Amino acid sequence: MSTTRISFPDHFIWGTSTAAYQIEGAFDEDGRGSSIWDKFCHTEGKIYKSQNGDIAADHYHRWKEDIQLISDLGLGAYRFSISWSRILPEGKGKLNLKGLDFYDRLVDELLMHGIQPFPTLYHWDLPQALQEIGGWANREVVYYFADYTHLVENRLGDRVSQWITHNEPFVMAFAGHFTGEHAPGIKNISTALQVAHHLLLSHGLAVQAIQAGQKETTQVGITLDLSPIHPASNDEKDKEAAVFFDAFKNCLFLDPIFRGKYPEVATRVFESHFSDSKIIKPNDFQIIASSIDFLGVNYYSRIVIGFDPNSPTYNLNFVKPKGNDYSLMWEVYPQGIYEILAWVWQDYHPKAIYITENGIPVPDDLDFDGKIRDYRRIWYLEDHISQVHKALKAGVPLRGYFVWSLLDNFEWTYGYRMRFGLVFVDFETQERHIKESGYWYSRVACENGIREFQQHKKQLVT
Ligand code: FCB
Repeated sequence: MSTTRISFPDHFIWGTSTAAYQIEGAFDEDGRGSSIWDKFCHTEGKIYKSQNGDIAADHYHRWKEDIQLISDLGLGAYRFSISWSRILPEGKGKLNLKGLDFYDRLVDELLMHGIQPFPTLYHWDLPQALQEIGGWANREVVYYFADYTHLVENRLGDRVSQWITHNEPFVMAFAGHFTGEHAPGIKNISTALQVAHHLLLSHGLAVQAIQAGQKETTQVGITLDLSPIHPASNDEKDKEAAVFFDAFKNCLFLDPIFRGKYPEVATRVFESHFSDSKIIKPNDFQIIASSIDFLGVNYYSRIVIGFDPNSPTYNLNFVKPKGNDYSLMWEVYPQGIYEILAWVWQDYHPKAIYITENGIPVPDDLDFDGKIRDYRRIWYLEDHISQVHKALKAGVPLRGYFVWSLLDNFEWTYGYRMRFGLVFVDFETQERHIKESGYWYSRVACENGIREFQQHKKQLVT
């Protein structure tokens, strides 16, 4: 553990992230249409305790208060997502002006507080009406996404300077269509691959739509969930398994975006599913590889892979390595954020990178004096920010860092069980309380670095 101070370059952006379905609530208000997550949550047995995002953190009504919180924390940027079905209740066709107005007000309020808006156009909540015509497996949906992007850019593009097309297409494609853990809950590898390709294609079209928009200075990128993939041992079979998984987890998205083609392993799997190349059309890669201004990286942990001849998932065994701390969801592995940044920079040369999500679930609670002492979150963030700093020193063009998340919220299949916020939400009363980590992160943002490390206090507390 280092005790020296670390400081970041001028103009480094400190922000925080959220997503529409996880915080907004108001699922049937002001003309919002249904999304695949509404449908999924309202299906028995899909979500912890059958919870859902109907009310979530009630951000649709408390947005002003929430922006005030970001401002009180002294953060310079806010990454949020736009709900497609609030704007186009059927996914296409009839526009719901009230939906657009909501994000219009949000953007104005952010700018009034001097907070840069970073909207994500798609954070997994496809309008249900589009799922009914096949969802992302239907190529038409790609073009509806481009239309939706045009619409949103048209309304907000005079004020928004940074856009993100998709959030974590890997999760959307595979958790949504292969393991079926996420909406729309499909379990079919061919569909998952088809969806992955269409998400990429829709990303390319959205990039073009944003770039053809109102301001020349506008920047656009995509957010990928990247993790170093480590073999479980030095055994050749484990190593091969790790390389295979890496091709899907990381390279399936990075390669087409930065190199205009799929990694070889993935191409072989594609070919075995789509021998008549119905899915991949000749021009697709040109669109997918439309030049982006930045890459968003979401990092939570590494993945350790072993070979298991009995595993139904391509002989892959997801190993839980011993020796490090675990959060409620993942191994705590801070050096992984440095590894992934250094690798992506060296192999793909993005023009700029933002960490668009990084955070940890902690079983937070209000103490008797009204404080939330989430020291584990502080230690996690401190360790990861130190590794981000190391990447900067190594020359990685990092422009900003966003904590997941501003608020405790609806954590997909885990429901409200996982609290990721810098701000505690009492879901009974919807009261907000800034956690100790929120105050700590606020100091990091204001001082543009870490002045006093908290790690040494670990023994005193645990
Ligand atoms: C990411 C998602 C985000 C949140 C965090 C914990 O994969 O993008 O919505 O659920 O994980």
